[in-house]
Amino acid sequence: MARIRNTKKLGQRVDRTYLRKLYPIPQWRRILTAVFVLAGLAWLGMYAVARNQTLYTAGNLTPSHAFLGKNCAVCHGASAGIGKKVADQKCVACHDGPVHQASQTFTPACISCHVEHQGTMRLARVSDDGCSGCHGNLQTKSGKTSVAANVESFQSHPEFTAVKARQDSTGLRFNHQKHAGEMSQKCGDCHVPADTAQGLATSDPHSHVSSRALMSIPTYAGTCMPCHALTVDDKISDAAPHDKPEVVHKFVVEQLTKYVAAHPADLGTEGTPRTAAAWVQFKVAADEKKLIDETCGRCHSFTSVAGSPGLEAAAVSPTHVAARWFRKASFDHAAHQGLTCASCHPNGATSKVSSDVLLPGIGVCRQCHTGGSASAGANCSSCHVYHDWSKEKSVDGKYVIDQIAR
Ligand code: HEC
Ligand code: HEC
Ligand code: HEC
Ligand code: HEC
Ligand code: HEC
Ligand code: HEC
Ligand code: HEC
Ligand code: HEC
Ligand code: HEC
Ligand code: HEC
Repeated sequence: MARIRNTKKLGQRVDRTYLRKLYPIPQWRRILTAVFVLAGLAWLGMYAVARNQTLYTAGNLTPSHAFLGKNCAVCHGASAGIGKKVADQKCVACHDGPVHQASQTFTPACISCHVEHQGTMRLARVSDDGCSGCHGNLQTKSGKTSVAANVESFQSHPEFTAVKARQDSTGLRFNHQKHAGEMSQKCGDCHVPADTAQGLATSDPHSHVSSRALMSIPTYAGTCMPCHALTVDDKISDAAPHDKPEVVHKFVVEQLTKYVAAHPADLGTEGTPRTAAAWVQFKVAADEKKLIDETCGRCHSFTSVAGSPGLEAAAVSPTHVAARWFRKASFDHAAHQGLTCASCHPNGATSKVSSDVLLPGIGVCRQCHTGGSASAGANCSSCHVYHDWSKEKSVDGKYVIDQIAR
């Protein structure tokens, strides 16, 4: 039998009382809606009664400030309600943020750089906007600036000054090619992380750079002595002290005086004077000429007073070996210890004079510090500090524990 398919038969399938009946699902929906609205109001009410504002939070505080999570008023103030503005005085009640430069034309608010409620990021990882706002078009009180005036990003950053200068002003003579090239000495024979070399530790509590950031500068006693002995004369068994010329002069006079007292038969031999005093004077002049021209002179140049050719009145030209090159930025060797030294110092085994600057230019850094997602940090704050921490003011604590941790 064929099925009858007219509109009447089809219409009979629809339940015309549907909208009038309360079926379980729509019924529960209404009940639940009412319950949730009431529960929500009760929840808000509970927070209001407890004067707890966490509910309005814009995101987690950074770990350093997480302990203030129940006490929004410490930053936002008691009555003002929650807004974007947090006054600088709230911040400096707990720690100073000293000024950047005396010559700056205005001082930005703390929160223009230190953005809160972003969770686990470090608060001191400041975005470039905080810097390029001024450095994109640098203004100073005097109208003059001694540094590049348009630095928007690391891409538009000028070449490092020390590299541009291409002149190392050290007074020490040295030849990298002879030692690291011809003799295949390792860089690490003479340069180790500075904190392992006594007296050069540079750990700065306010920089994020480690105490192994810099490399040590070799010293005569620690590095050169085994191969470059300060031998004076076959009549003097001890090596000369590595010291100021007048101290070396005293040493030479004393040693020769002692020698001739013990060996009077040497007087007058090999064309030398016959009295002890004249003999010593004669030998001192010859020995000191050799020290100045050859022994010490291999590494140093001397300035001497006219008419006094020996060591007594001479001075060594200052060695001025720089322990730190980038004074306006920080660099960290420890963060790059996986690389060979030659990746950044390619002329470390070929340079023949100490006046060469062996530092990498900015192009080397840009290979990795590119900015963007697959990059080492290229924010200004990766390499520069902002605050002049030498001007930090001490804080007079004003909170009691109950105000902070309720
Ligand atoms: C250490 C200080 C500090 C504490 C504590 C703090 N805030 Fe903030 N809050 C800020 C700063 C700074 C801003 C400005 C926003 C920014 O950093 O860009 C801000 C902004 C806000 C905003 C506005 C966010 C926006 O995007 O417009 C809200 C809402 C807020 N805070 C809620 C809270 C609540 C709720 C608490 C307590 C749980 C709290 N804050 C605790 C520092 C703090
Ligand atoms: C109630 C005291 C208190 C207030 C108010 C406060 N801080 Fe802090 N802040 C701290 C403490 C404590 C630390 C952690 C100190 C430490 O590690 O030496 C810290 C750490 C920091 C750090 C370094 C942490 C990091 O993760 O890099 C910065 C930057 C900072 N605060 C900025 C601010 C700013 C900006 C404000 C104002 C919006 C502010 N603080 C308000 C107590 C406070
Ligand atoms: C122009 C951006 C900028 C402004 C404005 C600014 N800071 Fe900073 N702040 C930084 C940078 C970058 C660092 C990390 C390098 C450094 O120590 O200078 C930092 C570091 C800090 C630290 C130390 C963090 C640590 O590692 O110990 C504190 C505390 C701090 N700032 C507080 C403040 C306070 C308080 C103010 C407002 C008075 C303020 N800052 C204003 C950029 C800024
Ligand atoms: C309010 C404007 C202002 C802001 C913001 C600012 N600077 Fe500066 N900066 C200056 C001035 C002014 C000088 C000094 C120029 C001069 O005297 O020739 C300077 C100098 C510098 C120098 C070189 C000189 C030195 O002695 O250190 C560096 C590096 C520097 N700023 C980095 C930064 C970084 C990084 C930031 C962001 C965290 C920043 N600045 C934010 C105004 C600013
Ligand atoms: C025998 C010791 C010795 C060895 C080996 C040696 N250096 Fe040096 N290095 C020195 C002395 C001394 C100075 C300081 C005088 C100067 O500027 O040349 C110096 C300075 C430097 C500087 C500072 C920048 C500059 O222009 O003065 C760098 C960078 C450097 N060396 C890298 C290297 C590298 C890379 C190697 C390995 C390929 C190496 N050195 C091997 C002794 C050594
Ligand atoms: C492993 C042994 C050794 C060490 C360590 C060493 N030198 Fe040398 N140095 C030599 C030898 C060998 C010569 C080549 C002597 C020659 O040619 O007469 C030399 C040559 C020199 C020269 C002359 C280079 C030239 O252009 O002819 C200077 C300057 C020098 N060394 C300085 C230093 C200084 C500074 C140190 C310590 C930082 C040092 N040396 C450490 C073995 C060493
Ligand atoms: C093989 C190289 C070498 C020889 C040879 C050498 N010195 Fe030095 N001298 C150095 C180095 C490297 C320094 C810097 C680091 C240090 O103090 O050891 C230095 C530093 C000095 C200083 C300190 C000057 C300053 O500005 O820091 C004096 C003074 C000095 N030497 C005197 C002498 C005298 C005098 C002689 C000879 C008796 C001599 N030196 C031989 C390598 C040498
Ligand atoms: C990622 C590049 C890089 C690598 C890799 C690197 N250096 Fe450096 N080096 C630098 C920079 C940048 C400076 C200037 C730092 C400053 O003084 O501000 C420097 C400075 C130096 C100095 C002068 C003293 C100082 O710390 O300023 C010596 C010596 C030195 N490096 C030796 C080495 C040796 C040895 C190695 C291998 C173990 C090495 N470097 C690896 C970039 C590098
Ligand atoms: C082979 C890639 C590479 C090269 C080349 C390189 N870096 Fe880095 N650098 C890194 C990595 C990776 C880190 C650690 C992660 C980070 O902080 O971004 C780092 C860290 C740093 C830090 C420390 C940042 C901090 O927060 O502790 C400074 C400063 C720095 N580099 C400066 C330089 C300079 C200046 C040069 C050029 C002379 C340079 N780097 C060359 C890869 C590189
Ligand atoms: C990867 C490391 C790195 C980054 C990222 C970086 N700088 Fe530098 N910056 C340096 C070094 C190294 C110097 C040279 C310092 C010196 O010669 O004492 C320097 C020098 C400067 C100078 C002084 C220039 C001059 O003319 O003497 C200024 C200003 C400066 N930087 C600002 C910035 C600003 C603004 C940013 C962010 C947009 C930034 N830098 C990012 C490493 C960096």
